[in-house]
Amino acid sequence: MAGPGRITAAEWIRTAFHDMATGSVFTGIGGLDASLMFEIARPENVGAGFSDALAFFANFYSSRVSVSDLIAISTSTATRSCGGPIVPIRAGRKDATAAGPNGTPEPQNSQFTFVQQSQRVDFNTSEMVELIACGHTVGGVYAANFPPIVPPGSAPPNDYKSVDSTIDRFDNRIAVEFVNGNTTDPMSVGPSIAAGRNSDFKVFTADGTNATIKALMDPAFFADRCAAMFQQMVEVELQELSLLMLFRLTMSNQVTCSLRFFQEVRASPLQASSEFGQLFAQRRILPVLILCIRIVVGTLVVVVQLPRQRLVRQLDLTIPLHFTPS
Ligand code: HEM
Repeated sequence: MAGPGRITAAEWIRTAFHDMATGSVFTGIGGLDASLMFEIARPENVGAGFSDALAFFANFYSSRVSVSDLIAISTSTATRSCGGPIVPIRAGRKDATAAGPNGTPEPQNSQFTFVQQSQRVDFNTSEMVELIACGHTVGGVYAANFPPIVPPGSAPPNDYKSVDSTIDRFDNRIAVEFVNGNTTDPMSVGPSIAAGRNSDFKVFTADGTNATIKALMDPAFFADRCAAMFQQMVEVELQELSLLMLFRLTMSNQVTCSLRFFQEVRASPLQASSEFGQLFAQRRILPVLILCIRIVVGTLVVVVQLPRQRLVRQLDLTIPLHFTPS
């Protein structure tokens, strides 16, 4: 999975954004539909994180679990595993079968363009500020991918510069440091300014008063808004709406060093007596996932299990969600 110094949780969250970001409520095309599978080679999708994430999710893909559902689930697990809020998720998305339009926000875009690109996926200006502050609370910028933002050699040991002072914690330091003027966010300060690529600054000041980013200085409010914005992000589903049922991953709010995925797929008919069974039987579309979380010492175990009887596939993978050693 991730290489030295990389943070898988951050890559998963960013994958969801890049998949959803090209959607348009005006054309009705795109949203969280896994079209990113066909868009990896685009300059706006620079970085190995997307293909690594999708390759990992492929292990869990089946005729009953779409890639886009897996992207949504991964957003929730990644957020929680870094100490963030529970992001409720629904299952039942349909995957795209071809690339969608271009148009993922890029650092060199103007503030006006960011606002327009956000409106295109139904986020107003305040919601845009919140979504991006929440997205950028984990992870950083690679010199190799964005040299005008992080000049090569300037961020040892991995040439990977954190956006806030807590690179693998889902906390509100990004907002606190920005408002207090001591941010080291390479997309707000430093070489990105002269290069016109200080996109976090352009975004965080887009409401004209900085009221949104200031409000995020309250940790509880930050957590609430991140849960809401991430749910909104993974529910930008513009094709035929098929989302079925809401889940909350009740992981404990503990920051762990690895995530263990365990999946069982069972194949006999559903028991109509169960609530899930009735739902599937009525709708006859993609089944809802039952997600059970077991906490083992230092490890999150995520059980993705379909409510069926005969075991046809079993998969057990453990990956580091936080730093792998340099
Ligand atoms: C105006 C919109 C945005 C712009 C211009 C932008 C730009 C960037 C850039 C340039 C990077 C560095 C990537 C690299 O070096 O490979 C990055 C990282 C990241 N972005 Fe954004 N981003 C935006 C919005 C978002 C949103 C909405 C989310 C999620 C909700 C998000 C999540 C992330 C994450 C988690 C990382 C860290 C990735 C890692 O450490 O591997 N971004 N972003």
